[in-house]
Amino acid sequence: MTPQEREIIRKIALLFREHQDAILQNWITIMHQGGIFRDNVELGYFQYGFEKLLHDFVTHLGHGDLEAYYEGNREIARQISYNDISYEHFIEAFHLFEDSYMEILTRAKEKEGKNVCDCLSVIDRLHHKTIAIVAQSYFEIHDNTVFALAKLAAMRDSGTGYHLERTREYAALLARDLHPEGDFAQLIYRVGPLHDIGKTGIRDAILLKEGRLTEEEFEAVKLHTVIGAEAIKQIIGAHKLERGYLKMAWEIALYHHEKYDGSGYPTGLRGEAIPLAARIFAVADVYDVITTARPYKSGAPHAEAVARIEAEAGKHFCPAVVAVFLRLQEEFDAIRCRYQDQVAVF
Ligand SMILES: [Fe+2]
Ligand SMILES: [Fe+2]
Repeated sequence: MTPQEREIIRKIALLFREHQDAILQNWITIMHQGGIFRDNVELGYFQYGFEKLLHDFVTHLGHGDLEAYYEGNREIARQISYNDISYEHFIEAFHLFEDSYMEILTRAKEKEGKNVCDCLSVIDRLHHKTIAIVAQSYFEIHDNTVFALAKLAAMRDSGTGYHLERTREYAALLARDLHPEGDFAQLIYRVGPLHDIGKTGIRDAILLKEGRLTEEEFEAVKLHTVIGAEAIKQIIGAHKLERGYLKMAWEIALYHHEKYDGSGYPTGLRGEAIPLAARIFAVADVYDVITTARPYKSGAPHAEAVARIEAEAGKHFCPAVVAVFLRLQEEFDAIRCRYQDQVAVF
């Protein structure tokens, strides 16, 4: 926001402070008239949210402290989204905020002999930011739920510990460098944990087998890529997605065991034909497998993992991804140390 806009907001905050009680009362009356809330419990959450919103508005914005105001918005957003208030209801109730102060604002401006429009456009921007913050907290719930389910699926595969937490961080680290544009790195962080969900479709006798798998059993394990991708495709359904969350989740689930030279599975895709997200995830996944102890093996040191991945550039792994991995290898080591697995986690 420009200094002029901040000044407008500050003046509005002072005006709201003067009329705080009236604005709150207006809002409650309008809420009742509109019958927007489901029950008194929901009204209670709205009221808590609105009182806080108004309080933060007059306190923080009165000092021009936008960041503190947004932080308050985040707190309100968590309260309403985690208490299962529908997004639609929230938006409706939030729009009534405007109705609750409009008269006060118009009267004050008329007294000054000024137009109310400049104020409204600045408040509008502020409100849009608040709505974006609330939407973000709904996404967070969605992401946390997806991660919890992925974690549950991973629990069948004994000894995986913090594999999902680490691989998503490794992948996001590489992605921020290889594809800094748009939300690519953020997406890979969100969908990465789904890469092995297809393992839920593999029989215990094979998945939990100690010792070497027969060729036939290994063929069955390979199918986890196809099973996971198929499950995600069911959600995609008729929507022909070109990009986004589900598209990337599908790419990683299906292609994370492909190799750059075409010798991977399940399709034998090669080179750049393998989607970038999957080429990145392959390095993240293998680095973690090499460096972590599993029931049937001990974890190799960081340096050994680096040497093995470097040796596979152009064979197993995309050379461009390996180059970035080598450059950022210390950060890989730091993430690895941060998430040291407990012994026998599951
Ligand atoms: Fe896998
Ligand atoms: Fe994995």
